Amino acid sequence: MEKIAFLGLGRMGLPMARRLAAAGHPLTVWNRSPGRADGLTGAATPAEAVRGADVVVTMLADPAAVTEVAGRFTAELAPGALWIDMSSIGPAAVAALHARLPDGVALVDAPVIGSVGPAATGGLTVFAGGEDAALDRAQPVLEQLGRVRRCGGPGAGAALKLVVMGAMVASVAAVGEALAVAGELGVPQDVAREVLAAGPLAGVVARAHSADSDFPVRLAAKDLALAGGGPVLAAAREVLLAHPSIADEDLSAVVGALRRARG
Ligand SMILES: NC(=O)c1ccc[n+]([C@@H]2O[C@H](COP(=O)([O-])OP(=O)(O)OC[C@H]3O[C@@H](n4cnc5c(N)ncnc54)[C@H](OP(=O)(O)O)[C@@H]3O)[C@@H](O)[C@H]2O)c1
Repeated sequence: MEKIAFLGLGRMGLPMARRLAAAGHPLTVWNRSPGRADGLTGAATPAEAVRGADVVVTMLADPAAVTEVAGRFTAELAPGALWIDMSSIGPAAVAALHARLPDGVALVDAPVIGSVGPAATGGLTVFAGGEDAALDRAQPVLEQLGRVRRCGGPGAGAALKLVVMGAMVASVAAVGEALAVAGELGVPQDVAREVLAAGPLAGVVARAHSADSDFPVRLAAKDLALAGGGPVLAAAREVLLAHPSIADEDLSAVVGALRRARG
């Protein structure tokens, strides 16, 4: 089995790394803040973690984190190594990473849909972008983590992820505001929620009240910023940024925050 280095042991990274170790991959992990390896074999630096690895997986917060960490390990990668970045960073950042890849090193962008539960059980959806040969090589590793959807060439996985997040995050904010409006109009919350959940917004209502997701509001705002778009996504991002007290809570916290904000 391929030797893997896994960099980034946050909410998502730790359960994903554990799955790869459980599948039998020799695994070395690294995290910026110490003390997260939790029984896995840890390295002191990104460079130490990737030395001798066939495959490097990164699962970091945002483009700045990936760029910073990349600067600490890419020079160590041997020709033939494969780097799979599973962070949600958008196609522009992926293109910048490709531009600085050492010779003979392949990169696959493979952001995921699904939160901490699916990360632990291999139930994620993985959007993979890259050259065909790199995607072929990444496939068996990614299949340990979830269902793989091949999206196209470099950056295609990162791009599709932003499309999905733009729609999902803005829709959760819209449902949250609609439920706040229900309060103002004297419509009981349970009635508004039940009727919304019986229509085309069923999935959004479920996500807006999810009890087992852990996707911080600050990362949702990051995805909206990366997606760009027009006034709808911009307004949703403003809503998220207007509630800094829930920045580290799951996106579903925006529902209560909007209700409280409107009294
Ligand atoms: N949570 C979800 O439900 C979910 C679902 C799908 C996709 N995602 C995406 O997956 C990625 C990871 O999300 P997460 O929920 O695991 O985030 P998280 O819990 O906040 O973890 C972020 C990770 O990035 C590291 N990091 C941040 N800035 C860094 C820097 N400058 N240098 C080095 N390391 C840095 C953190 O290290 P420290 O421990 O030192 O802070 C941590 O390991 C994000 O792109 C997110 O959008 C998340």
